[in-house]
Amino acid sequence: MMLRKLRHALPWTAVDKPKSSKHHKADQTSSKLKPALFLSSFFALWFLLLYFRFDLLRPDTARRPPAATNLTLGVADDPPDGSACRSRAAVYVHSLPPRFNSDLLLRCRSLNMYTDMCPHVSNRGLGRPIPSVAGIGGGGGGSWFATNQFIAEMIFHARLENHPCRVRDPALANLFYVPFYAGLHVSSMFRERSLPARDALAVDLAEHVQSLPTWQRRGGHDHFLVLGRTAWDFLRLSNRGPDFGANSLLDLPAVRNMSVLTVERQPWTGSNQHGIPYPSYFHPATSAEMLAWHKHVSESDRPHLFSFIGGPRRGPGMAAIRDELIRQCNESARCELVVCKPASPAACHDPGRVLSIMAASRFCLQAPGDSFTRRSVFDAVLAGCVPVFFSPHTAYTQYRWYLPAEPREYSVFVDAGEGEEPLEVEIEKVLAEIPPEEVERMRRRVVELIPRITYAHPNATALGFRDAVDVAVDALLEHMGSKLEKT
Ligand SMILES: *[C@@H]1O[C@H](CO)[C@@H](O)[C@H](O)[C@H]1NC(C)=O
Ligand SMILES: *[C@@H]1O[C@H](CO)[C@@H](O)[C@H](O)[C@H]1NC(C)=O
Ligand SMILES: *[C@@H]1O[C@H](CO)[C@@H](O)[C@H](O)[C@H]1NC(C)=O
Ligand SMILES: *[C@@H]1O[C@H](CO)[C@@H](O)[C@H](O)[C@H]1NC(C)=O
Repeated sequence: MMLRKLRHALPWTAVDKPKSSKHHKADQTSSKLKPALFLSSFFALWFLLLYFRFDLLRPDTARRPPAATNLTLGVADDPPDGSACRSRAAVYVHSLPPRFNSDLLLRCRSLNMYTDMCPHVSNRGLGRPIPSVAGIGGGGGGSWFATNQFIAEMIFHARLENHPCRVRDPALANLFYVPFYAGLHVSSMFRERSLPARDALAVDLAEHVQSLPTWQRRGGHDHFLVLGRTAWDFLRLSNRGPDFGANSLLDLPAVRNMSVLTVERQPWTGSNQHGIPYPSYFHPATSAEMLAWHKHVSESDRPHLFSFIGGPRRGPGMAAIRDELIRQCNESARCELVVCKPASPAACHDPGRVLSIMAASRFCLQAPGDSFTRRSVFDAVLAGCVPVFFSPHTAYTQYRWYLPAEPREYSVFVDAGEGEEPLEVEIEKVLAEIPPEEVERMRRRVVELIPRITYAHPNATALGFRDAVDVAVDALLEHMGSKLEKT
């Protein structure tokens, strides 16, 4: 599948970064640190951490092999069928006129100028079924699909329609979901030169939501949208960079009142935006399938110290770091490299191949590409591979609902600044110096994250674990509560 080319419009060079947010201040400080300085303080901290850990941990806990871990998925007190709502959330799914969702699917062949979207929108956005990976979750009702990376909005919709916390009476609801397939729509208009035409359906949506009786009660603050594409695609008015085809959905006053779940938030100004995982390929319907996969990746042999799967990018900024990662990986005997070329995209999008390389690697490099985030982060977590980040905006400022607050628990950070200077870090050396116990500890933490970053099969009735949608619904309610208290 082809990615849209944003080479001349990299958002982190185009955007105005306001100085007010405290996250931004932290980012600026970190970007000013030279990599060497950063790394030495990083290792100093690491040393301290290890020192205290060895003091505190009994050897048997530290050396416990991962296979012996009893994997409970946080469902011990579930009702036996797992089908009851285990949250205070009561979600009302608005039924929108079809022009906002299902009509878009009718023209899936021409929807996206680069790709025939028909296979990707099939099975409610899961895409085409694929053979089971590592023999897990196979058979007739398989749980593996060739899922498109930009399709979370459809999967979310399907899952919420069958969700145990869905209510049919708006009077009983505390969350209101507006199922607009905004990502599918915006990508069908990237080449539209007329700005009013490009914005028309978004403006229409904003007018429509304000006419809903449920809107008036809280000015839309309890309504939410889910976007399968990055926030940058919907911020044309506030993002004063070159035009790369975005519309202005997220700049509209009504939408600014809503909560917006997106695979990539605008890290500086996106205060109503919340990061949700990119969908990977695994959509299990039972905790037995999840546990089998858990066990597979926990026990997997990992002969490669690290791996990189990705394509080169041309142009300035962070994308240039990819060339450096490809060079270093190619030159290292301990790195497994898969270079994605436009001529042979299959190499990088064969789920079985991608996951088996990641499941055979201890670390997976996550370079920013056309934007800060990558679907590959979630493929790596699914494969139990510790992610290595080069920008805080690839995950740390994005997925607060999903990932541990402390980055060192589950990842390695190599500071690449803002990409304006060449990366001087020797990645193999950095990774090889991390003590094996630390690697093991991080990997256990990564494997624990798998259920919550997974989009379960939307037809699952007795799931038995909390998936990405469950986490989002709970976090939204909590967020909404604190937001409404303030107003
Ligand atoms: C895991 O824990 C559950 C619940 O405590 C228990 O029933 C089960 O036997 C344990 N499994 C293993 C392999 O220890
Ligand atoms: C869910 O079940 C319905 C009814 O059996 C079926 O028609 C539909 O294809 C299923 N959805 C998915 C995504 O498999
Ligand atoms: C947005 O919310 C505020 C209250 O916080 C309300 O006054 C305003 O009317 C809302 N805007 C729209 C477009 O509904
Ligand atoms: C990897 O290195 C070899 C030997 O220097 C070179 O021929 C090859 O083109 C490199 N591959 C990539 C993808 O850079």
